[in-house]
Amino acid sequence: MRADLISLMAAQAQRVDQHLAARCDRLDPLMQKPMAYALQGGKKLRAFLVHQSAQLYDLDGVLPAMSAIEALHAYSLVHDDLPAMDDDDLRRGRPTLHKAFDDATAILTGDALQALSFELLCDLEQDFPRTYVLSLIQRFARSAGAAGMVLGQAQDIAAEIADTPLGLDDIAKLQANKTGALFWWSATVGPVLAGKDDTALADYARAIGLAFQVQDDILDVEGDSATAGKAVGKDADAGKATFVSLLGLDGAKDAAQTCVATAKEALMPFGDRAATLRQLADFIISRQK
Ligand code: IPE
Ligand code: IPE
Ligand code: MG
Ligand code: MG
Ligand code: MG
Repeated sequence: MRADLISLMAAQAQRVDQHLAARCDRLDPLMQKPMAYALQGGKKLRAFLVHQSAQLYDLDGVLPAMSAIEALHAYSLVHDDLPAMDDDDLRRGRPTLHKAFDDATAILTGDALQALSFELLCDLEQDFPRTYVLSLIQRFARSAGAAGMVLGQAQDIAAEIADTPLGLDDIAKLQANKTGALFWWSATVGPVLAGKDDTALADYARAIGLAFQVQDDILDVEGDSATAGKAVGKDADAGKATFVSLLGLDGAKDAAQTCVATAKEALMPFGDRAATLRQLADFIISRQK
């Protein structure tokens, strides 16, 4: 089952890689090289969510949306790793972008990837009604920006320098912005482009987004850097309050299981058609990278 899921994900990741490479190949090498570097590797999990969400509504033609969310996610990682943020040297098993190039290139590459993501979304107009595409782009901007991922990143940095560590509720809110917002957008592409209600998939996304971040915190304690492809042990070193520091390892694992159960419950209306999304929920808390 798990092997099937991994090969399904790999097949979609390959489509996204090719689509993004083709777009970047037209650019000046000064930007093409670092952008291609930033886009390489990774699980392309958010793209897979887009794909699966669209499948539920029998929609084809969402490759631009799959590529857009991965371009945005890659930008967020490039900036997250910068010395002024998490100051990391390793990402996706290779030197971080500012290590392979330089800080200025990393900032500009993040900027360019974010712009590219919006450009890609405009291509959806070829296959879907304009009003739906516009709504999707608005939701994308909201989930990426000052009320979504960027807010979560700001809250994360603020918490690191604050005197009092955050409590569980505050951490859950921070993570819902930092990680949850992009999961929400990805998982609801299907209903938005089909003009349907997104409640069930939004509930699913909320639960797996939280589970994903709980697992990220667990891997920071239990994982190893060679497998994860990034540094581990950084949260404790920074004295960060995380799901693990607040709940303990066993408590965090129980919380992750509860989130997965909630996620699967949210998929009830789709019956067997959502089998892959159920497997994805299990994968999210069993992954080692
Ligand atoms: C890492 O995301 C950043 C977090 C939100 C914790 P992923 O684990 O999805 O990173 P890649 O894309 O597979 O490298
Ligand atoms: C980063 O969260 C999430 C975003 C880039 C929005 P983390 O800082 O926990 O991610 P890792 O652990 O470096 O992948
Ligand atoms: Mg960070
Ligand atoms: Mg980081
Ligand atoms: Mg982390």
